[in-house]
Amino acid sequence: MRKPNLPSAVASIRHTSDMSEPPPPHRRRAHTRSRDLERYAGLFAGRTRVMRSSAMRDLMAVTARPEVISLAGGLPDTSTFPPKSFAAQMTRIAQASTAEALQYGPTEGFEETKDCILQVMGAEGMLPESDDIIVTTGGQQAIDLICKTLLDPGDVVICEAPTYPGAVPVFCSYQAEVVQIECDEDGMRVEELEGVLGRLADEGKRPKFVYSVPSFQNPAGVTMSFERRRRLVELARSHELLVVEDSPYGLLRYGGEALPPLYQLDGGDYVIYVGTFSKIFSPGIRLGWAVAPPPVMQKIVLGKQAADLCTSTLTQFFVREYFAEGLWQNYIEDLIEIYRRRRDVMLEALGKHFPPQATWTEPEGGLFIWATLPEYIDTSDLLAKALRDNVAFVPGQAAYIDGRGRNSMRLNFSGVSDDEIREGIRRIGKVIGEQVDLYGALTGEVPAAPRDEAADPGGDVLPFRKTGEAGQ
Ligand SMILES: Cc1ncc(COP(=O)(O)O)c(C=O)c1O
Repeated sequence: MRKPNLPSAVASIRHTSDMSEPPPPHRRRAHTRSRDLERYAGLFAGRTRVMRSSAMRDLMAVTARPEVISLAGGLPDTSTFPPKSFAAQMTRIAQASTAEALQYGPTEGFEETKDCILQVMGAEGMLPESDDIIVTTGGQQAIDLICKTLLDPGDVVICEAPTYPGAVPVFCSYQAEVVQIECDEDGMRVEELEGVLGRLADEGKRPKFVYSVPSFQNPAGVTMSFERRRRLVELARSHELLVVEDSPYGLLRYGGEALPPLYQLDGGDYVIYVGTFSKIFSPGIRLGWAVAPPPVMQKIVLGKQAADLCTSTLTQFFVREYFAEGLWQNYIEDLIEIYRRRRDVMLEALGKHFPPQATWTEPEGGLFIWATLPEYIDTSDLLAKALRDNVAFVPGQAAYIDGRGRNSMRLNFSGVSDDEIREGIRRIGKVIGEQVDLYGALTGEVPAAPRDEAADPGGDVLPFRKTGEAGQ
């Protein structure tokens, strides 16, 4: 039988008067969208009421437009990966192991992938047991599986303020009560943790874990000092408290001294480690991992079986081939060169284009700078204005559970060229300047001179605005 061609088939549906025939899908959707919402609302699980969308994911739709300079992503620069190596690695997989590469794999991940993970962790001084590792679909899935394993609704999670914006939707979807502890330039103020633990104990609450990104934190770019790392591990031991150390950026250091990971200081009794190949190789392969004590790992494996059976075999084979070449550390060195320069370009542009009332962090590694603006500026509103000028950033509120962070923003320097960084910061500086002028006009306060004209350009810039210090 000849298939009807599409336009005439659509026309015959349009002209039919027989109501038993369903309307074409696009018409059905337009007519019933609002009714559908009501119809399905009664079916949703209670937890969907507290689910949050990821600010970065939402922004991706807008920032994908080629005319937009996006300082919003957390994207490594994959354009630096040589296409010839990629082709050679994939060809080797096709020639030697097509059938296996296209097959399911073990839930825990392949031993060969774990060998690569052991090399990466070894480069930071960690020596976990292979059996304590699970290969996950990105570090993001590791966070999700840890929450799935440890959290009942209402359980307390302690994290940094600000925290990784991608962890916020996870904590929310498991209905956690999240307590955030302020950061300064030395990372989470661990000295406040003891008081928080005491207060929670008085309320009869025992937190399930502390979540921390101690090295070159996303979003603030700050790094937890050695003293605080040591203290955090001590507190974990004395309070029998788990710590989730999420460390995608540990090997991306551009200056200063390397610090031991929490996992190394603890030896793996109380610290669950989360790692990823995303920032040192590729986020597109979606390969990360978790390292946890055996009883916790057993439950995480059960959670992963239910979630997706196993992580992609194909990309695990790809990582294996890539590591077999023995050049993975050279690639990281190349990335470090590029990102260090981009960080410096961004810091210089901030000094030039942001008003003197603004402060920002000066990260020793990672992908992000965190800027704090005068308190009367709401960066969510500012983003709408910035997008009109085709530039994007992540508003700070995405990194807090309770609506704080309104006058701050996360700026990424890894996924954009030097020129885009300069131009992007110039455009954001311009919209901030307009807000500062408007505030001055409304309140009669004289806005401070632009940084270029200030007596001491950039000299009084705080690396980070501390809690309790009045914003301007
Ligand atoms: C702190 C942190 N954790 C986890 C992730 C998730 O990374 P992935 O799922 O790509 O491994 C990211 C990504 O930006 C991150 O910054």
